[in-house]
Amino acid sequence: MSDKVSISYGEITSEMAIVPATEGPSGIDISKLIATTGLSSFDQGFVNTSSTKSAITFIDGEKGILRHRGYPIEQLAEGKSYLEVSYLLVYGELPSAAEAEIFHGKLREASPISKQLLSLIGSFDPTAHPMTVLSSAVSALAASETGLLDPKNPEQVEAATISLLGKMPVITAAIHRTLMGKDPLAPNLELSLIDDFLRMTFGEEGQSWKSNDVVTGALDTLLLLHADHEQNCSTSTVRLVGSSGANLFASIASGINALSGPLHGGANEAVLDMLNLISSSGDSVEQYVARVKNKEDGIRLMGFGHRVYKSFDPRAKIVKAHADKVLTELGVKDPLLDIAKELEAAALRDEYFSERKLYPNVDFYTGVIYKAMEFPPRMFTPLFALGRLPGWIAHWREQNLDTSTRIGRPQQVYVGPNQRSI
Ligand code: CMC
Repeated sequence: MSDKVSISYGEITSEMAIVPATEGPSGIDISKLIATTGLSSFDQGFVNTSSTKSAITFIDGEKGILRHRGYPIEQLAEGKSYLEVSYLLVYGELPSAAEAEIFHGKLREASPISKQLLSLIGSFDPTAHPMTVLSSAVSALAASETGLLDPKNPEQVEAATISLLGKMPVITAAIHRTLMGKDPLAPNLELSLIDDFLRMTFGEEGQSWKSNDVVTGALDTLLLLHADHEQNCSTSTVRLVGSSGANLFASIASGINALSGPLHGGANEAVLDMLNLISSSGDSVEQYVARVKNKEDGIRLMGFGHRVYKSFDPRAKIVKAHADKVLTELGVKDPLLDIAKELEAAALRDEYFSERKLYPNVDFYTGVIYKAMEFPPRMFTPLFALGRLPGWIAHWREQNLDTSTRIGRPQQVYVGPNQRSI
């Protein structure tokens, strides 16, 4: 196979090198395209465009493969914790038991948040969406962590990484309580990060915390399954913002805002809204599927479809298995889980979905599990953000170390008026 591609346009022929991939599609280096042909590449939604080289995560969407640093997601979900996978993403290798313990200790030490940050969280109207408060709080961290803002200083980058990973669960739990009209709980550094997150979310001041292994284990797995997904919308946002030299906190806050949309992380909340709507409307699952197929009011089957996965989302398989297990072990009987299963079955036997290669994605069953754990629906997307944090950080750091990084600045095909006079 040739290592060059030729593009001909009129009299001009331009040769472009191939950027080799270890797996998956290699890239065509079009960095001289405009200079040599006068044409830009036009790729709405970046469906065919590689914005970067990356060694963190590999996805084969046709085969339903997801690997972090070479390890299949099934193996990681089965045998490793969210903390270990966070370490893997950020530092490139799985930690030894001793390394994992030191890492955990550092995160716990960095967990407490300031009074100013708590009062900022408390200043929002109770109707505010937690994702809005979360991005504001993470943005505001840059105002207190002023010694950790220089992307070119490795010690500061490392301390900012630890600070974010340690504080994000505390911030997320504080947002939940505050919006519920309750006082936030301070972290208990004796507990594990995930268990303490659950205590700070659901515990009561002055009462001892009885951890539930089923809930803690399931939440750990769900966070792990969300930990990275290569160049998705929010990760690309984190990279784009970071490419300007913006600090880690500012970049992550932008990623949180990108994640909030219903086509991205906001889908987990939207799935539960959809299941509730079907349940309360009295419509059958078939009637709802018919509305989706008719594109009535632009409605979509939330939790279905993916830009990259064209067979199945390997995360969705794992989540579905967990949904049954967690609900059974918690003794929760939720009719919404039955509706979700019926909806999935109805969609999978329907040509509309098979022709378009639309299958359940990671968000389809997560809401039902979060609901069984007693998280309110508006906290579902902040939980996605908590899970995705190590991935965002890993990508920001990878880009930050890459000496070939240039500020992200796409072209456009201008279609407005030619020059005119007033
Ligand atoms: N329900 C109904 N039709 C759909 C759906 C859906 N969920 N997803 C795509 N389609 C149709 C779409 O209408 C279009 O049909 P047509 O060819 O007739 O115009 C065709 O499938 C292709 O859709 P697209 O919008 O061009 O596909 P995309 O790759 O740009 O969008 C997506 C990917 C995930 C945004 C989309 O599938 C979707 O909106 N899904 C529902 C929202 C959702 O669950 N998002 C979570 C994604 S996974 C977690 C994450 O990474 O955030």
